Amino acid sequence: MTDLQPTHIYSKPAFDGVSPDDEFLVAIHKYINGYCDKHHHFAFDPANPTVRLHEPTFGATEIIAAVDVLLSTRVTMGPKVRAFEREFADAFKFAHGITNNSGSSANLLAVAALANSATEDHLKPGDEVLVPALCWSTTVWPLIQHGLVPVIVDIDPVTFNMAPGEIERAIGPKTRGIMPVHVYGNPCDMGEMMDICRRRNLILIEDCCEALGAFYDGTPVGKFGAIGTFSFYFSHHMTTLEGGICVTENFELAEMIRILRAHGWVRELQDPQSFYDKYPGIDKRFLFVNQGYNLRLTELQAAIGSVQLPKLTSFVDARRTNTAEWQKDLGKWSDFFQFQKETPKAHSSCFGFPIILKDGTPFSIAEITSHLNKANIETRPIICGNIAAQPAMHMYKHRVVGNLGHSSNVMERGFSFGNHQAVDAAARAYVTEKIGEFMKARGLS
Ligand SMILES: Cc1ncc(COP(=O)(O)O)c(C=O)c1O
Repeated sequence: MTDLQPTHIYSKPAFDGVSPDDEFLVAIHKYINGYCDKHHHFAFDPANPTVRLHEPTFGATEIIAAVDVLLSTRVTMGPKVRAFEREFADAFKFAHGITNNSGSSANLLAVAALANSATEDHLKPGDEVLVPALCWSTTVWPLIQHGLVPVIVDIDPVTFNMAPGEIERAIGPKTRGIMPVHVYGNPCDMGEMMDICRRRNLILIEDCCEALGAFYDGTPVGKFGAIGTFSFYFSHHMTTLEGGICVTENFELAEMIRILRAHGWVRELQDPQSFYDKYPGIDKRFLFVNQGYNLRLTELQAAIGSVQLPKLTSFVDARRTNTAEWQKDLGKWSDFFQFQKETPKAHSSCFGFPIILKDGTPFSIAEITSHLNKANIETRPIICGNIAAQPAMHMYKHRVVGNLGHSSNVMERGFSFGNHQAVDAAARAYVTEKIGEFMKARGLS
């Protein structure tokens, strides 16, 4: 057995870090600031109006933080990742936060942890997990990858979230869990969902990858389930470029996720001692106690995350203001447009601005989105639409409940445009004006 610190394979860092007073570093920072000031203009420009699905949330400060890490040469998961995890967990009062390299990986790790044979009462191949039809592909793939059977449940047409009545209807003898998505940042009715989970003894995994900064009844989403997952993808509420995090209140699950995140070894555990005691003959630094992946965040990404996190509230506030204002301004066409609504205890973090065309609307999605696109307003479908209609689903065992009519409706008659921190009153007015122009041309204003 070795006496070396278990988390270090090298006895000494190659380079001890970057002094903030170093003349080259001062110059590098100056040039990064200058470059960003000169070239990064993401605010809405009335002279060249464009409303993209997203504009970068990061700027010179984040780039400097990342460059400093690169210059330090200490780039793989280490103290900055641990610090960012603690900051994130503390900001939302989660007991544990375990970062990884994407929201998809967070979902993978959540399912892998709950399906691992070393986890108490774990999910087993053939067990069913309910998912909303309106979800992202990597909400479902981790279930399939673990031999679980996704049960596809329709959404509520008002919230766009899994309909509680449909959940009750979908539960069968093999159902062990629910994996809801808080669609477009709008929290599911967690009162009803938790009640169902308690009554039917179901494990809850919350896919919060679109819902960072959302709360239900004052509690952050992600805190209700056994595990919650978030994405820090470039276009999300805040970013680490790519990245994600699993949150949990359960220490054993947190440790399991740490093992699975990196090779199946114990290096990153908070309490590895019991493993060391059990296997005294194996080098602590290379002690593998389970299967695993390599889904780690880098130090660069964590440094970016630590700069982004304090900005999150202002980013979410901007999205909420935009949503409230657009719902008012576009509300005059409510005979044609259906908007996503919060339930009374929900506080959405408003990921994009989704619109569904109501029955009888005398124009198509293609017509309105093409008009907007020509005016440099980007649009997109809402998540994956109805996942059961995607060809990949036909390759794998799953169960569909009902006709998924509301989810199909979102797929066929829904679109969204950008709602983010760089959308201001002028950008909002521009979108409203272009929609007004489209309606007027059809005699609908
Ligand atoms: C509901 C949902 N789950 C998971 C993901 C995957 O996140 P990532 O793109 O970080 O892998 C997304 C991505 O937007 C998502 O919308």
